[in-house]
Order: sequence, then C-alpha cells, then structure tokens
Amino acid sequence: MTARERIAGNVAGYVDDRTGAAKWMKKNLTKVFPDHWSFLLGEICLYSFIILLASGTFLTFWFDPSMKEVVYDGSYAPLQGIEMSAAYASALDISFEVRGGLLMRQIHHWAALIFMVGIVIHLLRVYFTGAFRKPREFNWIIGVGLLTLGIVEGFLGYSLPDDLLSGTGIRIAEAIIQAIPVVGSYLAFFAFGGAFPGEAFIPRIYTVHILLLPGIFLALITVHLMLVWYQKHTQFPGPGRTEKNVVGYPLMPVYMAKAGGFFFIVFGVTAFLGAVASINPIWLYGPYTPGQVSAGSQPDWYMGWLDGLVRMAPPLETYFFGYTISWNILIPGLILPGIMFTLLALYPFIEQWASGDKREHHLLDRPRNAPNRTALGAMALTFTLVSLINGGNDIIATTFDLTINQMMWFSRIGVIVLPPIAFVVTKRICLSLQRADRELVLHGRETGRLVRLPHGEFVEIHEPISAEKAWTLTSHEQLAPLELPEFDGAGVRRPGAIKNKVRNRISRANAVAVPKATETERKELEGHH
Ligand code: HEM
Repeated sequence: MTARERIAGNVAGYVDDRTGAAKWMKKNLTKVFPDHWSFLLGEICLYSFIILLASGTFLTFWFDPSMKEVVYDGSYAPLQGIEMSAAYASALDISFEVRGGLLMRQIHHWAALIFMVGIVIHLLRVYFTGAFRKPREFNWIIGVGLLTLGIVEGFLGYSLPDDLLSGTGIRIAEAIIQAIPVVGSYLAFFAFGGAFPGEAFIPRIYTVHILLLPGIFLALITVHLMLVWYQKHTQFPGPGRTEKNVVGYPLMPVYMAKAGGFFFIVFGVTAFLGAVASINPIWLYGPYTPGQVSAGSQPDWYMGWLDGLVRMAPPLETYFFGYTISWNILIPGLILPGIMFTLLALYPFIEQWASGDKREHHLLDRPRNAPNRTALGAMALTFTLVSLINGGNDIIATTFDLTINQMMWFSRIGVIVLPPIAFVVTKRICLSLQRADRELVLHGRETGRLVRLPHGEFVEIHEPISAEKAWTLTSHEQLAPLELPEFDGAGVRRPGAIKNKVRNRISRANAVAVPKATETERKELEGHH
C-alpha cells in the first residue's frame, strides 16, 4: 500500500467511524444507470441551474435593486447626464465598470436561455417516450412546476435592470393582472405598491428572483432527482432490458466522469456564448419611462408564445355594471395558459383514464408506437409555435416586407387550423413508420442490390435484420381497446353508460396500430427473401 493510499484509507475510515457513510456510499455509488444521449437533457437543466446560481450570486454584489432616481455619470457616453433608476444605472455599471461584469451578465442570461431550452426539450423527451407513466406521475407534475417557475423566474430576471425593454414587459404583466375580474385592479395596486410603475416593484421582484424562487427551485430539483434515484431511470427497450431491471453502467466511476465532463461542456458553451454573443444590450434601450416603447420589443423566447397569444387576440370587451372585462387580455394572458398548464400537468392521468392502463412502465415507448400521444404532442407544439411566431410579428413583418395585418391573420387562422392538421399528419406518419418496422422485421433490409432471375424478372435482395434488432422492433405491447359495458345483461343501459361509451371511443382511437410482426409470421417468411 502506498503512502497516499494509506492516508486516503485513514481519512475514509475516520469519516465512516463518525457518519457510517461507507455502506450507504457503496450501495449508491455503484447504482446502475442506463445510457442514452436523451437522458443528458435533464443534466443540461441541472448544470445550467448551477451556472445560474454562481453567475447570479456574482451579479448581486453590484446590482442595486432600487427605483430611486439618479443621474448617470458612468463611462457610457450616450447616456451620461440622463435621469434613470439606480437599478438601471447599476446594471450599466456592471456592464461597463465592473471587471468581468458584462461577461457575467451575458453568461447569466445565456444560462437562463439554455436552462429553459433544456427544460422544454427534456419535457418533450419525457413526454414523447412515455416516461411520465406510472410510477413517475409525481415527477412529471414537479417538472411542470419547474417549467412554470422557470418562465416566471426568467421574466423577473430580465425585468430587473429597469431598461425600456424590461419596463415594457412589466407593463404587460400589470395589464394581465388588471384584467382579472373584480380583484384585478386591487392586485395590481398591491403588487406595485400604488400606481404603476411606483417605487416598490423592482425591490420586490428582486427578493423573489434571488431568494424565494431559487429556494423553491433547489427544493423541487432535489425532490425531482431523489425520485429519479428512488424510482430508477427508465430505459429504451432492447435485448435483455425488462420492466424489472436496469441495464447500464455504474454511477462510479463511469457516470461520475461523464457527468463531470458534461458539466464543463455546458459551462464552456455558456461561457463562450457569454464572451462572444451579445445578449440583452440594455444600454441601447435606455431607461424605462412609461410613455415610451421601443420598436421591435421582444421578450425572451420562453415568454414569446404568451406575448404572441396576447398580440393576436381580437379586441373583445364587455361592460358589466360599470366594470370592464377585457377578454382580449384575460383569455390569452390567463385563461388559455391556465388551461394549457393544467392539461399538461394532468396529462399522465388523462392518458391513464383513456387507455385504462394502470400498470407500472419502466421501458420507454418509441414515439411511433404511441401514435395518439405523439400526434397530441405535435398538435400542442404547433399551437405554441404559431403563438411564438406571432410574438415576433412586428420583426417578421418588417424583415419579410409583410403587413402586421397579414401576420395577425396568419396567426389567428393558423393557431386554430394548423394544430388539428399537425395531429392528423403526425398520426399518419407514426402509423407509416410502424408499417415500415413491420416490413423491416418480415422482409429484412433493402440492400439496393438488384438481381435478374432466370426468367428475366428483376428483384431487390433483402437482407434479414439481426435478432437483436428484430426483438427491439417487436418487443412493445399493442394495447387492446377498452370494452366497458354500456348495457347490463337485460339490455338496459347501465348507470355511467355514456361515460363508458366515451371512454371506449377514445381508447379505440388510442389503440389504432399496424399489427406488429409476430414470431410465426417471421418464421414463415424466413428463406423467402
Ligand atoms: C429545473 C428543471 C429540471 C431539472 C434540473 C431536471 C433534471 C432531471 C434529471 C437530471 C433527470 C434524469 C435524467 C433524464 O432523464 O434526463 C430527470 C428525469 C425526469 N424528469 Fe426532469 N428536470 C427538470 C424539469 C423537468 C420537467 C419540466 C419535466 C416534465 C414536465 C420533468 C420530468 C422528468 C421525469 C418524468 C423524469 C424521469 C424520467 C425517466 O426516468 O426516464 N423534468 N430530470
């Protein structure tokens, strides 16, 4: 034993005597995780969150969350002598006076954008592979919570510098709060500590942005990861992989090394972007004054869909006993997002109800093998994408020489017409891919080699696929539709018959599939290629 090993052993023994950690560590450090690139998406969220905490802490040393008026006398000449809030002046100082300040601001902002991209793509991977199914429904709900908080946290973050762009965003938020019937104006008054913009809002959202939400994030991410640990990670189907095992590598040393390396890749990319790609150049926008708005104001991408929905709403208002209800703000700003996020959170339960499948699932679905789910996802994405496009309607209109009206009507019609089309097209594509899988299993791979038979016919040689691949393509289950009884033995409608009928219909649509190739069919066709 070398001296170094002896010292390490002594230290480990010392710690273990006092904490009893060795047994726990041994068990957990050898825990096996499955290997697939898409499982790294959650890690991107985790690492960008760590980068956000570190870079954000740096920014707090210099940022002054105060709306008191000061006269700017820093080194950025175009704004010298201009009155502005201390918050805006300190954000300018971080950009121009503090060493490394601009880099840190940009790293922080890029990390936020990557964090949100990571969350959304991670969510899509969990959704399209069915990883949210029992027993992971709670983790899905925690995930939807993290997504919602991420949007709010990002919005509050870019509202802090009190530049013209952030003030414009806050003004929209105020309008949305005010649109809540009956209590709206009181709530807005309460949030802003008086009339808009007041002096209280920035200090308040600062506390929420740097203390309250990061604390909640930390707690939720911890529970999220503990659940992944406890429930074990899902895995893609393949030979040797079952609902009861996990095939992969141990945490120590394989994933420790991979995860460590991956953190530095995420950090490196974020730092590189922060160094070379300008983001939120607040000095160009000027200080916020309620009477101004800059042309081409754009929120960060994860707020764009909401902005787009508000922008496309027709001017609907009703007057009620002297009160105005602004449906044009209320529906796109609160009701629709409320419905969207509730449906998203409840999706695992809705699917369970529709399919009647209450079993645990640790093997993932290939998206094509769950055509209805995949098509619903494509539909929701199309809706969000059209809204997001409309969030940039002014920029798109000027870039492509269109009018705002053309953009508006494209979005208003597109947001209703395109999602159902996306549903139908995606479902057809999934079924075609299932058909292609069936062909592949039964007839093998097309080799591109043409042979002329003795009687003159040309045929293409098909090569059988490996047994492993055939297993992977056929191991999934094909759900049978529900057949809940609508009538009792005497032909009389049972109580709840209508509900059962609806469920039967939905589950029939859910179970539409191209029958997968069976072992017998495969055997029969063997030697016919
Ligand atoms: C702060 C944001 C988030 C962080 C840091 C995070 C982190 C992670 C990590 C590291 C994993 C394991 C690796 C992987 O499967 O990618 C994971 C798994 C999971 N996440 Fe997230 N996540 C976040 C947001 C979300 C969201 C928005 C959802 C869905 C709404 C979600 C649902 C899940 C589920 C269901 C699993 C288990 C997947 C499986 O076992 O296959 N997470 N998360």
